[in-house]
Amino acid sequence: MQTRHRIIFQDSREMSAINDQSIDLVVTSPPYPMIKMWDEQFIEMNPEIALFLENGEYGRAFESMHLMLDDVWQELYRVMKEGALACINIGDATRTINSRFQLFANHVRIQRKFIDLGFDILPLILWRKQTTAPNKFMGSGMLPAGAYVTLEHEYILIFRKGNKRIFASAEEKHNRLTSAFFWEERNTWFSDLWDLKGVRQDINDRQLRSRSAAFPFMLPFRLINMYSVFGDTVLDPFVGTGTTSLAAMAAGRDSIGFEVDNNFSDLVKARTILGLPVLKKYNADRINNHLDFVRCRMKEKGDLKYINSYFGFPVMTRQEKELRLVFIKSVSEMENNCFTVSYFEDQSVKNLNFDELLPEHLDVDGQIQLNFIP
Ligand SMILES: C[S@@+](CC[C@H](N)C(=O)[O-])C[C@H]1O[C@@H](n2cnc3c(N)ncnc32)[C@H](O)[C@@H]1O
Repeated sequence: MQTRHRIIFQDSREMSAINDQSIDLVVTSPPYPMIKMWDEQFIEMNPEIALFLENGEYGRAFESMHLMLDDVWQELYRVMKEGALACINIGDATRTINSRFQLFANHVRIQRKFIDLGFDILPLILWRKQTTAPNKFMGSGMLPAGAYVTLEHEYILIFRKGNKRIFASAEEKHNRLTSAFFWEERNTWFSDLWDLKGVRQDINDRQLRSRSAAFPFMLPFRLINMYSVFGDTVLDPFVGTGTTSLAAMAAGRDSIGFEVDNNFSDLVKARTILGLPVLKKYNADRINNHLDFVRCRMKEKGDLKYINSYFGFPVMTRQEKELRLVFIKSVSEMENNCFTVSYFEDQSVKNLNFDELLPEHLDVDGQIQLNFIP
């Protein structure tokens, strides 16, 4: 099995490299309007925004920034297949202009545009990024009425284009079954509150680091596993440091990323090639977490009803019987910014009988060691 990944260093307001109705899932995080770190980039695309900000016309600045994003959302509608989902991570902004403090509700403005374009809104996820910093409170301290509630969350907005996706043929149905996730993962992932830590930016170039605003790997990784199947193509029109592409590699999906800032090119390559050992770890972690879950559950409630036909370990439901996970073997760059990822052949990870696994494949802490893959 192989997957393909392309990063295109172009403005995603026009994605002519992508055919109409060819994308199965979008996972992305745009630059956030009215957050200072993105002003410069919005101004580069529309210099009028600088004047609006200088003159305190923040309503017009906010709207102009969103008009730029609107063009990308419109392109998404063109390239997405019927039934495909778009997951947009966005935070609101707070800003004081001319001594007036206020919230700029980016998530509301984006939802409005998606409705206008014809998407359906699905229930959203609140990504809680709690901070313990004492200076997190804003405003007049302990004195009423000028203190403000702290913004400690971002949104993952979820939209669907058209009708629900249909898996019609026997092959499509089987592929969907192999792409299943674990019962206990469903219970966490499909909660509307995610408590994921933000990422420390491990980027040497300080300027680039301050501009990257990467989301944590688990964010696109979960969404890709929740909303796509093996063989699908995932698009990120604001790919930055390439986190969505890496998550697609680990999950065994194809991906396309667009990024307007060429300076990210070397970083994306380094993260892809050098990050391989880390990338391999995520699906092994999923198995370890599942085995931990199984041990606890069996202790409390006795044997589980079903056995996964591929790995040989117990699972909670019939829907997990055909579940498969892929294990990355190697990543190679085919041509500039196009990567091919190879995975271990079926036989090498097959039939990991739950009992046999214990002595041979686990380390002293009971964690699966990756070297069980030859
Ligand atoms: C919030 S960051 C995305 C970070 C990314 N999720 C990651 O994990 O690295 C937004 C990115 O969009 C890029 N960008 C802004 N406008 C763009 C456009 N019109 N086309 C393509 N990329 C754009 C910025 O350069 C920035 O890298």
